[in-house]
Amino acid sequence: DWTPANIVADSVASIRKEVGDSRVLCALSGGVDSAVAAALVQRAIGDQLTCVFVDHGLLREGEAEQVERDYVAATGVDLVVASVADQFLGHLAGVTDPEQKRKIIGREFIRTFEATTRQIADDRGIDFLAQGTLYPDVVESGVGEGAANIKSHHNVGGLPDDLQFKLIEPLRTLFKDEVRAVGRELGLPEEMVNRHPFPGPGLAIRIVGAVDAERLAILRRADAIARHELAASGLDGEVWQFPVVLLADVRSVGVQGDGRTYGHPIVLRPVTSEDAMTADWSRLPFDLLERISTRITNEVPEVNRVVLDVTSKPPGTIEWE
Ligand code: XMP
Repeated sequence: DWTPANIVADSVASIRKEVGDSRVLCALSGGVDSAVAAALVQRAIGDQLTCVFVDHGLLREGEAEQVERDYVAATGVDLVVASVADQFLGHLAGVTDPEQKRKIIGREFIRTFEATTRQIADDRGIDFLAQGTLYPDVVESGVGEGAANIKSHHNVGGLPDDLQFKLIEPLRTLFKDEVRAVGRELGLPEEMVNRHPFPGPGLAIRIVGAVDAERLAILRRADAIARHELAASGLDGEVWQFPVVLLADVRSVGVQGDGRTYGHPIVLRPVTSEDAMTADWSRLPFDLLERISTRITNEVPEVNRVVLDVTSKPPGTIEWE
């Protein structure tokens, strides 16, 4: 029987058999796949697992806390957090080119992950690396979900020789909806289980222009409003992804109360898709779009305009960078 409970029982048995009393490391990205993979391994071998979370400061509102607090509470995993937001922001300062941003973030992520891992490996002796690779990733090394899929995500040839581990990929026979069901079975926070795909470089590629702490804060607030209203409308499942983008170098004139404003536009980019290779813009209800727009312009003072992206992919991409 293909039930979540059976999948969990089978995986737990095979992980125990494979790992024995060795130690396992897993990188958490905040996304579903790595969270479920690590929770399965934790269920199987408990404290023989150590998780690493690189908090690069580019996640959305509440996501770091979800990993550091709610996920740990739900699973009991041994978590090592590398809080390196300042380091990432330092390297990103003044950088506007999207591919340059990706390079910097990929490089800094690997550096941080390596340093953290080396420390843990020295302390505890690590034999295995668990990754949240799904069946579709196996078939066509497709779009990685985030930092957890270290190799495909950052296009690096893997870790240095002294950090080569045996891989365990407990989700490699599963599709996304099965992974979500397993996550629920394991008691993971619902926000994590339901999370839409989110790019590894995070909010850095949703700020058109240079990234800094202030711009991140603006985008985070606007994004949180859009996500909240979408969830409240019950239409989460109708949307593949809902990028919210800050046009940080664009200003336009507006009026609020008695005063003229000169603020930034926020772009809403809700899309439907099967696999992110092609996409269409979501026909979200006007009343939902209106609530999102009103709340963002009321609650985020730096934003005086909200626009909707009505471009399919192709010719547009899902992200703006
Ligand atoms: P585009 O914008 O190319 O995105 O239509 C297709 C899918 O890939 C995600 N994406 C990324 N994911 N690192 C990632 O892990 C990246 O650099 C990256 N760029 C885009 C995007 O969110 C969408 O799901």
